[in-house]
Amino acid sequence: MLPNRFLENLLRESLAQHLPDADTASVLVRPCPDPQFGDYQSSALISLAKERKLNPRQLATDIASKLALPDWAKVEIAGPGFLNFRLSPSILEESLRSAMRGEHLFFEPTRKPRTVVIDFSSPNVAKPMHVGHIRSTILGDCLARVFRLLGDAVIADNHIGDWGTQFGKLLVGWKEHLDQSALQADPITELERLYKLVNTESEKNPDVLERARSELVKLQNGDPENLGIWRQMIALSQRQFDEIYGRMGVRFDQTLGESVYNPQLKSVVQQLLGAGLARETEGAIAVFFERFPDLKPHPALIQKSDGAFNYMTTDLAALQYRMETWSPDEIIYVTDGRQQLHFKQLFAIFRGWQPECQVNLKHVWFGAILGEDGKPFKTRAGDIIKLSDLLDEAETRAFEIVSAKAEERASRTAADGGLELSQAERKEIARLVGIGAVKYSDLLPNRQSDYVFSWDKMLAFNGNTAPYLQYAYARIRSIFRRLETEESVTDLLQSAATSRLNLSIAEEITLVKHLLNFGIVLEAVADEHRPNYLCNYLYDLAGLLTKFYETCPVLKAEGDTRLARLVLCHLAGRVLWQGLQVLGIEALEKM
Ligand code: ARG
Repeated sequence: MLPNRFLENLLRESLAQHLPDADTASVLVRPCPDPQFGDYQSSALISLAKERKLNPRQLATDIASKLALPDWAKVEIAGPGFLNFRLSPSILEESLRSAMRGEHLFFEPTRKPRTVVIDFSSPNVAKPMHVGHIRSTILGDCLARVFRLLGDAVIADNHIGDWGTQFGKLLVGWKEHLDQSALQADPITELERLYKLVNTESEKNPDVLERARSELVKLQNGDPENLGIWRQMIALSQRQFDEIYGRMGVRFDQTLGESVYNPQLKSVVQQLLGAGLARETEGAIAVFFERFPDLKPHPALIQKSDGAFNYMTTDLAALQYRMETWSPDEIIYVTDGRQQLHFKQLFAIFRGWQPECQVNLKHVWFGAILGEDGKPFKTRAGDIIKLSDLLDEAETRAFEIVSAKAEERASRTAADGGLELSQAERKEIARLVGIGAVKYSDLLPNRQSDYVFSWDKMLAFNGNTAPYLQYAYARIRSIFRRLETEESVTDLLQSAATSRLNLSIAEEITLVKHLLNFGIVLEAVADEHRPNYLCNYLYDLAGLLTKFYETCPVLKAEGDTRLARLVLCHLAGRVLWQGLQVLGIEALEKM
């Protein structure tokens, strides 16, 4: 067991004896905010004492004196009643050895595995995926990866927008203006053109609007021709979405579009009417939120006066379907902040409708992507930026940077046979660097703030960026490549599982302590749905590695010291690899 978990359990046991009514699950042992005062800290006793009108320092003293601490840990009482723990090098060495034995990678499954549905990406048929969908795709995919790593069962569900009034206009466009060859070459662009064309026409000509309305009614009534065209539009759009997902390494377990729920919508409305949650208003049907002060001014429509259903109705049906199909512990919706009201309404309606249901519902929302002028991110001509164009540009720019770096390095190291990268290698590196940079720049800011999209910043090799972390990993790999020519790395690392690992320098010790926090950070990401914690953790790790190399020669060291340093590099590399992997970014062997 990892040291902080061990100490946490010990503290919980001791508290359970001392204060049997205390909720020990809330007792946490976390990294000490200031390492000067200790390695780990617990502040739990302060609030527990306050609730009981006890003196917190006295409680801390009583508990600390009864803790059956192992010989590798010391405890001190600080401030108003903090417990500060300090670890001895022996447990640090043992943690490295147990990691080398494959018992953990500084995280352990701790809670009971959950089932989590993540609804993310969810673009709309016949419209290009734009930068607004990029954050949902990147964030949702990252959360899915973190949950999976921690042992949860994840259902990644792409709630594609494949139904709605826009299909009336699209059908008119398809029937009257379709350019087959354009459709074959770039389906979504052609569909978008058709939609815009009919939209403009219908503003001028009420006949066109009427035709769109009647095509929509025919589609809704199951007209075979319209259904056929609609299916083609979905299939063509899906093909282009899949291309982007492939490039980004994003996968879904389910793609259940909005239309899947059409057969249930009528019954959802009936149930809500029956339960007294919804009522008629001016021919439409809405849910009013009398008991929710913040929602009261915003009733939610679930059926329009013409009989059509709303976005909300579909989301209610989807929620019910997900509960019946997977009985998840949690359902997460990843969309931009402008949908906050929608999800507050959805959750409130669902709680009233199915009060016995225990599921945790969470809207994980995010802010906007801004251009360098601080305005919403657009092309120079003021158009919405398409995700595919953005990824192309990322790769092109990364290729220039990677090539320039490779040339610079080749000229510097040619004398001692330095590493040269072929054109094909550089292309592949650029692809991973470019996409990694875009993803990382999206995951790094607090998700609820807007962020400024800057190519220069995200592709910088120095700074808190993906290329910097990928480089840190490649640097570790280069140490092992050099070693490989002299000795068997596998044998060497195997022997570390049982050897003395001599840690004596401050930089080594700080590095191990940082590695030990990997699991704490992963759990915080999962609990708060905030990948930025992991980004910053990995950035700090890369910084500690640089400091470590400055003071601690690795290959030139000897005996126990050399082995310990190789182990540190190896494990830091594995943590970097794993951390990047759950961010959806590929680590690179060479750069
Ligand atoms: N298609 C919607 C959009 O592009 C996002 C759907 C989000 N998921 C949901 N269950 N409502 O804005």
